[in-house]
Amino acid sequence: MRILVAGGAGYIGSHTCVALAERGHQAVIVDNHCNSAPTVLDRIARLTGGAPEAHRVDLRDAAALDRVFADGGFDAVIHFAALKSVGESCVRPLDYFENNLGGTVGLLQSMQRHGVDRLVFSSSATVYGEPEALPLDESARLSVTNPYGRTKLIAEQIIADACAADVRLCAISLRYFNPVGAHPSGLIGEAPSGVPNNLMPYICQVAVGQRARLQVFGGDWPTIDGTGVRDYIHVVDLARAHVHAIEALAGEGGSAPAAGHPLHGHTAINLGVGRGISVLELVRAFEAASGRSIPYDIVARRPGDVAEVYADPRLAEALLGWRAALDVDAMCRDAWRWQSMNPGGYAG
Ligand code: NAD
Ligand code: UD1
Repeated sequence: MRILVAGGAGYIGSHTCVALAERGHQAVIVDNHCNSAPTVLDRIARLTGGAPEAHRVDLRDAAALDRVFADGGFDAVIHFAALKSVGESCVRPLDYFENNLGGTVGLLQSMQRHGVDRLVFSSSATVYGEPEALPLDESARLSVTNPYGRTKLIAEQIIADACAADVRLCAISLRYFNPVGAHPSGLIGEAPSGVPNNLMPYICQVAVGQRARLQVFGGDWPTIDGTGVRDYIHVVDLARAHVHAIEALAGEGGSAPAAGHPLHGHTAINLGVGRGISVLELVRAFEAASGRSIPYDIVARRPGDVAEVYADPRLAEALLGWRAALDVDAMCRDAWRWQSMNPGGYAG
């Protein structure tokens, strides 16, 4: 299949382009590079044996996007393109609404104009807000605690409304838990700009000597050791899930799932391992994988954090035939390999 991958130069998108190529699909990247380096394209080429077709286009530029679709012959779209920093979204909410929602609407409109009727969307476990019960399954109450999370919830609703209005359109919103790790080659990985917001990239930068100590946000949570618990998932497993989703939407005859099929219309699916790991458990696993020590201080809780979040991932297995295969040791080993081979990210 030929797949338009919006935001395909980013962290999860680049791994998905490699996973698509491994299954014989052709990824066509659309990215404005607001949070990615064009050099990632060379790395993808090294992993797949050929440079991916790529267009520097902003999803909100309807004319430019239409040109890509007009020449495309796409079977489906995967939509990763968004701004994703929770803290920044509280400072610049309108930029988040404009980019994440404007981009999603623009993409859906171009798909409609060109008769492309299958979409896989990057959603997030953030749409569950503060969990009422664990593990979280897809029927859990939805709520948001920040503007970034609101863009994900509203985007899911926009996509569901578009599917309800057009019986041919089928979409899967994949709700990622905590993606970490990197491709085992060490050629592609997560390259945050500035101070990392998330735990694993921060640990990596401490390990490589760029930051002195990790701050552990809270040691008094009601968890196994007092630190926050999350469902970390290897980015290579996550990438593979997108291929499963695209192939499930293609069905047997190559057309989008018809009425009565479980994937007809809009479907939300969790992507997690189904097991929670504490901050200190992750630190210890990383130390074992890297041979480096990670000095840390336990400090105050981070505002907006919750004690424990992990997925019920059974729907992904039932509907997509996918389950996570890689464990926390692989996550830490691959994150460390990427970080030590590329201490400055794609800049060197
Ligand atoms: P990323 O920032 O590495 O990748 C996003 C890509 O989209 C970047 O290359 C960026 O340049 C591009 N982009 C952004 N706005 C665009 C626009 N208007 N037009 C064209 N390109 C645009 O992020 P990621 O970690 O790979 O995340 C991918 C998706 O998954 C995002 O939608 C994110 O919200 C979602 N998600 C990520 C995580 C995570 O922890 N990484 C967790 C849950 C959900
Ligand atoms: C973050 C996002 C969330 C997104 C999710 C998946 C925030 C506030 N939320 O959540 O929207 O869906 O990633 O990628 O950014 N921690 C430390 N020290 C650090 C960093 C984190 O102790 O320097 C702790 C946190 O308190 C938490 C755990 O590590 O207990 C994981 O944090 P993080 O990687 O930021 O992910 P989430 O908080 O789950």
